[in-house]
Amino acid sequence: MSQLSLAVELAGLGLRNPTMNAAGVLGMSSYQLKRLYESGAGAVVTKSLGRQPRNGHPNPTIVFVEGGVINSMGLPNPSAEYFRDEIKRLKAENIPVVASFFAASIEDFTYLASILTDAGADALEINCSCPNVGREKCMLEADRESLEKVTKAVREASSLPVFVKLTPNVANIVEGAKIAEENGADGITAVNTLKALAVDIDLRKPILSNIIGGLSGPALKPVALRCVWELFENIEIPIIGCGGVSYWRDAVEFLLCGASAIQIGTALMDHGVELFKEVNEGIRRYLEENGFRGVKDIVGLAHET
Ligand code: DHB
Repeated sequence: MSQLSLAVELAGLGLRNPTMNAAGVLGMSSYQLKRLYESGAGAVVTKSLGRQPRNGHPNPTIVFVEGGVINSMGLPNPSAEYFRDEIKRLKAENIPVVASFFAASIEDFTYLASILTDAGADALEINCSCPNVGREKCMLEADRESLEKVTKAVREASSLPVFVKLTPNVANIVEGAKIAEENGADGITAVNTLKALAVDIDLRKPILSNIIGGLSGPALKPVALRCVWELFENIEIPIIGCGGVSYWRDAVEFLLCGASAIQIGTALMDHGVELFKEVNEGIRRYLEENGFRGVKDIVGLAHET
């Protein structure tokens, strides 16, 4: 029997392996999330939840482009209140749940953090980086001041590990990460989608109803890797890598750059939920063949000279 284990620990949260779904993908119900866990995910991440139910933007909300997908769903979700029972169902089966949420005010962030904590979530992920909803609706692309206030408020409202998901649409991602870290974040999820646009030349109009959306998929991966690299060199808290993981090799790249865990989003649409098994088996093989004993052994290894 091999001694090798894929288990990881993220700010006190123990996971059987380093994979999760990315927020927004297959996280709209406990049924979907349970399926992800049964397919091999180490933890599951809910759709980003808000205080009120939202329908999101009118169609078209998604467009396939070279190297990825641009979407502008507009944060459709059934509300955190509704999702409480879904989280309880998942916890009844001992499934590690990361609750993703967003809000437009500090008061709402505090409220959401406390009800998601009471529901039994294992960790919170603050979505302060969705590209698709105006600043008045949600603290997006959070500026320094909002990041500080939001992180502090959520930190005070919950005893759970708090992960802050950052946008790559900034000149310096380290700045925001440091603010989150200084204000009590336990981890950084890097990254959310890149702002993007697609045009229909026959209609002579942008394709998405919201005009601008967020690019995800393989085209995002090198940007996400660069962000993880920069964060690893500048912060102490763990990094969850997200952006264009489609094969096990991508996951290993993120680990080598400094991610302690990874999230898979867009690729689940192409490859299906079986991808979790493939990615985990690939990581295991890679560790075995190269004489490592666990995931931790390779986190950030590409930085060593
Ligand atoms: C949406 C939210 C996101 O955080 C993102 O990266 C892309 C799309 C949305 O619901 O519109």
